[in-house]
Amino acid sequence: MKIIRSPQEMTVWSQEQALAGRTIGFVPTMGFFHEGHLALMRRAGELADQVVVSLFVNPTQFGPQEDLTAYPRDFERDQALADSVGVEVIFAPEAEDMYPYGAKTAVTVGEELTGQLCGTSRPGHFTGVATVVSKLFNIVRPDLAVFGEKDFQQLAVIRQMTTDLNFGVKIIGHPVIREKDGLAMSSRNTYLQPKERESALSLFRALAMARTLVAEGKRDAAQLTVELERFILSFPGTAVDYISFVDQFTLQPVAEVNKDTVLALAVKINGRVRLIDNGFVDEKTL
Ligand code: PAJ
Repeated sequence: MKIIRSPQEMTVWSQEQALAGRTIGFVPTMGFFHEGHLALMRRAGELADQVVVSLFVNPTQFGPQEDLTAYPRDFERDQALADSVGVEVIFAPEAEDMYPYGAKTAVTVGEELTGQLCGTSRPGHFTGVATVVSKLFNIVRPDLAVFGEKDFQQLAVIRQMTTDLNFGVKIIGHPVIREKDGLAMSSRNTYLQPKERESALSLFRALAMARTLVAEGKRDAAQLTVELERFILSFPGTAVDYISFVDQFTLQPVAEVNKDTVLALAVKINGRVRLIDNGFVDEKTL
């Protein structure tokens, strides 16, 4: 497995693969790998000849009060894990190499997709994500890229951007990978103390509860939201950022749950750790 740090070198490598007729599957990440990341890498390996993983904790997608400096990092461990699933290249640039002139140009995806859910409590976040992924696409020049449905708003934003800007990269969504008890895997789970870990389960439990209520015929989004909020707040230290029933394509809130409805959740634990989760709630799409 190769470690490439320079964007120029990365592009040269990719051009060589293209000349040799080999396809590139790409998995952008911020590192501190867990099974969710590894599943994306395996999927990329099934779909393309070579897998490139980028490992870059992108400063422009973090707000001033967010966890940029605290974000967990362990390059050696990540290297071993990526190697174990057959990754060919880890592209791990420095911030100075990604933004040598600062971040003077940005890619902003329209308000319809970025103006609600995580876009409300994290202003500028999706512009940071869309810009860095655009840069990574231009540097790595992949044929396809795999993103997790765990960050389902991010996936929708990337799909829109890729179409609108004619990147010609096929975007593949991958289902959420969970711990045995249902907690969605996340690099941020490492911030949780044992007691907080129990409260973190409120997101998956709420998802399961919503599925039961919908199966019982309760489809009014406002009423369901009230019940789910009460349920989540019964776990110690939880504060709800949002509970939203949205259309899977437009991300707009719906009044009545139907087969295209996704329940999206963001919960803060002890004012410190912000976790997200989402999933379909109608049995027709489960
Ligand atoms: P990061 O949080 O490291 O996630 C990298 C990829 O792994 C994303 O596509 C994310 O959706 C996926 N992922 C994370 N947890 C997952 C899980 N439990 N199951 C399935 N997939 C999971 O998302 C980012 O980095 C950044 O915003 C990035 C796209 C790299 C841009 O900086």
